[in-house]
Amino acid sequence: MKTILTGLRANSDLHIGHYLGVLTHMANLANQHSKDYQVNFFIPDLHSIISEVDGKMQENIIRNVKYYLAAGLKPNDNVHIYRQSHVPAHSELCWILNCTATMGELNRMTQYKEKGEGRTTVNVGIFDYPVLMAADILLYSAEYVPVGEDQFQHLELARNLAQRFNNKYGEVFTVPVTTKEQVEFMGLDNGVRIRDLLNPEKKMSKSTPAENSKIMLTDTPERAKKKIMSATTDSVGMVKYDMWAQPGISNLLVIEALSTGTPLDKVVEKWAGETRYGELKKQVAESVATMLADFQAKLKEISDDEVLWLFEAGEQYANKVANEKLLEVQKAVGLR
Ligand code: TRP
Repeated sequence: MKTILTGLRANSDLHIGHYLGVLTHMANLANQHSKDYQVNFFIPDLHSIISEVDGKMQENIIRNVKYYLAAGLKPNDNVHIYRQSHVPAHSELCWILNCTATMGELNRMTQYKEKGEGRTTVNVGIFDYPVLMAADILLYSAEYVPVGEDQFQHLELARNLAQRFNNKYGEVFTVPVTTKEQVEFMGLDNGVRIRDLLNPEKKMSKSTPAENSKIMLTDTPERAKKKIMSATTDSVGMVKYDMWAQPGISNLLVIEALSTGTPLDKVVEKWAGETRYGELKKQVAESVATMLADFQAKLKEISDDEVLWLFEAGEQYANKVANEKLLEVQKAVGLR
């Protein structure tokens, strides 16, 4: 069985853009493919400590998994949820791959350049981040690695390291498919971007200070409704899906489609030509409120124990698969 693998970053403060764009997308992907693929979802906690973490990391990790479950992820025997730091082979393979990776190629990583910019000291973890990520992927022979565009460069690096290692030591690693093929397989380019409610030219972002610009997953359904009602529209006076000319209205149509699970073209068709923006807003407000209430109710039902139990099973599986691959690598380079 082939493997689909991705790291679920433990962000705090998620908004409906994350939910509709990433969480439900990943959950659907897993549900859709877990009959024919192994699906590995892991928490990259070793990656998290490249920056200062507060005392809430354990709490955040558990909540993060709950979010995916509440977003519809259905665990089964082929879905493996684990914490990176609980599978020591990741760190070990990272070291071995460090001896294949070059300073030059890591220096070219945009994320590193951006994070390091203007700082006098940068920890080695930030620099080495992509190599650990390559280890995460190669240990499980994952061919499909659904990630956002900002991770494509790291994915390319993982492919390069695998190929270089194989050329030197023999066919040890499965090389993940190209980013282009990833996109084709996953439909990643449909990766929707929910926009800022007040400034719909921009992406919805948790760091925008204006409360009404974003709907957080912790907002009450009532609060969410008010935010939709105060969303920026335009002076065109007729509903049309046109991200350039009418970004606010188009954003509302996208939110309506995603929060009700209706194809966008159906929603667009239904509302085309409507002149009362208030009617559209009322509908979207209802849909978002229902979605949030639903999500929050599901979230409440998931216990910490349930998550810990998933980790236990996932980590047992992950250690088994990862240790087998690691041994192969150790033999290839002469460490065993
Ligand atoms: N770097 C990824 C991100 O920032 C998270 C991640 C870590 C990851 N290791 C991975 C994703 C391996 C896919 C595969 O989103």
